Amino acid sequence: MIVDKLGRRFRSLRVSLTAACNYACTYCVPDGKRLMKAQDELPASELLKAVTYLQQAAGIDKLRITGGEPLVTPKFDEFLLGVMQLPLDDVSLTTNGQLLLKKKEVIRESGIARLNISLDTLNPLRFRQLARGGDLDTVLAGIDAMLELGLKLKINMVPLRNQNDGDVIPLLEYCLDRGIELRFIELMRMGHLAHSNTFQSEFVSMASLLDIIGARYEFERTDAPYDSTAVRFRIPDKGVFGIIANESEPFCRSCTRLRLSSDGYLYGCLSSTRKQYIGDLLQLPPHQILPRLQGILLSALGDKQTSFQGEVTIMKFIGG
Ligand code: 5AD
Repeated sequence: MIVDKLGRRFRSLRVSLTAACNYACTYCVPDGKRLMKAQDELPASELLKAVTYLQQAAGIDKLRITGGEPLVTPKFDEFLLGVMQLPLDDVSLTTNGQLLLKKKEVIRESGIARLNISLDTLNPLRFRQLARGGDLDTVLAGIDAMLELGLKLKINMVPLRNQNDGDVIPLLEYCLDRGIELRFIELMRMGHLAHSNTFQSEFVSMASLLDIIGARYEFERTDAPYDSTAVRFRIPDKGVFGIIANESEPFCRSCTRLRLSSDGYLYGCLSSTRKQYIGDLLQLPPHQILPRLQGILLSALGDKQTSFQGEVTIMKFIGG
């Protein structure tokens, strides 16, 4: 097992199936252009092969499927069904929910138990302004379909000052009513926000969020697992919510995440542009793959930072 001097190791793998997305969220892409798939994206079979080897080389036991938007690629069905056959403790999926209705059958068939759905507002007009693609009612119908399947859902919301901060309570109530855990993600200095004043003007801190929620509900902080990114709170008799407080309570020192991009690069840290290509390595005879992969993982673990500085690496490619 590869462990660094802070005791960090890779446990949790996030696989981006494609860089393409059917939204163009304002905080993700600056110019409103929708994301295109990266050149030389690996097919589902190669991504599955990479996962199998990474599991052995790094001791991965958790996997999240991300993008881009993972449901837009035809690879999705094969990858999901394949990954659900692997001996992983936990598989989950992050999606913007736009295509959940169309993918309901394969999601049911795969047996996946948990989904995170990104939803920043319940207001149709604001939805169009922020996401610059897709349709709110389609997402809400997708959420209903997933609840009908009995899946455990979380909703990710990125609060932005003077844009959707008025949606904090409506979204919280929507989630509490449905047994969904709402997770607020503090805005991160990624992509075009890394070196811009927009970050400061749009950022909503954990403290401000708790003020907004505290004006309406009593809540208490609860325990979260060691490598959890979220700070969790309970509203007695109603449910829980979480805050991914990347700025207010950074979690870099206990981060166990490893990222694989759709074009075959491993990223050891979201706050670093360093990446290692593994697409070619997967073509080697099996006995050569593991030792080489271990060397690459050691170097990727060395890329982990102790605090999040922000990076021009765009979230869209590696899915957060
Ligand atoms: N800061 C915080 N969250 C972001 N996301 C995308 N870009 C950013 C950013 N700069 C969120 C998406 C999605 C999750 C994977 O990451 O809204 O919910």
